[in-house]
Amino acid sequence: MTAPLRIGIAGLGTVGAGVVKMLQQNAELITARAGRPVEVTCVSARDKAKKRDVDLSHYQWIDAPEAMASADVDIVVELMGGSEGTARNLVEASLKSGKAVITANKALLAEHGLALAALADAAKVPLMYEAAVAGGIPIIKALREGFAGNNIGAVYGILNGTCNYILTTMRETGRGFDDVLAEAQAKGYAEADPAFDVDGIDAAHKLSILTALAFGVKPAFGKVAIQGIRHITADDMEHARDLGYRIKLLGMARRMKDGAIVQTMEPTLVPQDSPIGAVDGVFNAVFVEGDFVHTSLLVGRGAGEGPTASAVLSDIIDIARGKTAPVYGVPADTLKDAKWGGAADIHSHFYMHLKVIDKTGVLADVAAILRDHNISVEAMIQRGRNPDQPVPIVMTTHETRYSDVLAACEKISGLKLVQAKPTVLRIEQF
Ligand SMILES: NC(=O)c1ccc[n+]([C@@H]2O[C@H](COP(=O)([O-])OP(=O)(O)OC[C@H]3O[C@@H](n4cnc5c(N)ncnc54)[C@H](OP(=O)(O)O)[C@@H]3O)[C@@H](O)[C@H]2O)c1
Repeated sequence: MTAPLRIGIAGLGTVGAGVVKMLQQNAELITARAGRPVEVTCVSARDKAKKRDVDLSHYQWIDAPEAMASADVDIVVELMGGSEGTARNLVEASLKSGKAVITANKALLAEHGLALAALADAAKVPLMYEAAVAGGIPIIKALREGFAGNNIGAVYGILNGTCNYILTTMRETGRGFDDVLAEAQAKGYAEADPAFDVDGIDAAHKLSILTALAFGVKPAFGKVAIQGIRHITADDMEHARDLGYRIKLLGMARRMKDGAIVQTMEPTLVPQDSPIGAVDGVFNAVFVEGDFVHTSLLVGRGAGEGPTASAVLSDIIDIARGKTAPVYGVPADTLKDAKWGGAADIHSHFYMHLKVIDKTGVLADVAAILRDHNISVEAMIQRGRNPDQPVPIVMTTHETRYSDVLAACEKISGLKLVQAKPTVLRIEQF
């Protein structure tokens, strides 16, 4: 029998415990597929005394996770999280000491991926991260291997299960954002501090990783135009439904006609009968558009113990098989500097939701501003009449420039009879 592959696991929370469980439960088939036994030799977390749901009695406990970089292991599996501190130190030290690294840490990759890829290349060791994006969907492998011969034009999808759960529940129950968020926290679907999820940061981290892989460019999290979902109301969900759409937090990386790449993460209206419109709850979905494969859609659970452990195991087995590739599919020093485009240049249909005082002339003022910004209205709904009181006006536009819509909304916000800033959402026709 070939020598076992020795792994150290730093972080024994949701993902780490899941990986231990899966290695124990599926040991026989993992050995067969890896071609050698996979043995956990050491583990680490913050609190040794903490009661955990898995049997760790056969593993050496390491107090300081960084020490795993010099432990007797072939692979260091970093499952602690955080873009700085212990996680970053451990990954850097492990790569420098010639150890393969597996991580689920999208924040670390989004912030420091390029430097870590260079370290991995220099040490000629793999740095694998299937679990970092869309958990149970093997999208990293798909982009690096399955679609490797394609010129990719776009990657887009739903990359945060918490937001998708909240938006789905708002739509199904008619409840407001705060109420549904509180329930998601109580059920463990959302963190106590939900900002990373609901403000779109977590999903943008993942998108920036996919962009680098898909287009062979240096990752640039800072170039993602990010909008979260806090401002989406129960009324928006209802209006979208009446217009035949659903609202999803959609991440999109697209190469434009002039070669620029635009990365956006924002709540977007998608047709309710489209494949992406049907991706509900904690599910994620990723579309890839390639010049030869055309459009492919992958759907699966985006997070949680099982799907994330499954992704980590696929990396472990790939390393055991000797089947690895550069971090972003090409050597780090050959990644190109992308020409980044801004969301302002996007041409699209838009949804606008205004609250106006129901008085004669207000619509004419709004229409004049839209005309002055070359925006033509496709459909308009005024919900009921309520003289001298606020009423919602909902519009969809024909294809127009994002920057023109935003400029028009600034002007509309300044009208005396308009209450609050209009909500503007992009509409994608898939
Ligand atoms: N949860 C998911 O569904 C999911 C999905 C995809 C990716 N990820 C990523 O996977 C990673 C882990 O997530 P998780 O949900 O498993 O987190 P978690 O449940 O909070 O677990 C984190 C683990 O890391 C340990 N840890 C944290 N900081 C540490 C430090 N400074 N020193 C030593 N140990 C430390 C904790 O120790 P104690 O147990 O002793 O406190 C805990 O065992 C993150 O990068 C996350 O973004 C998670």
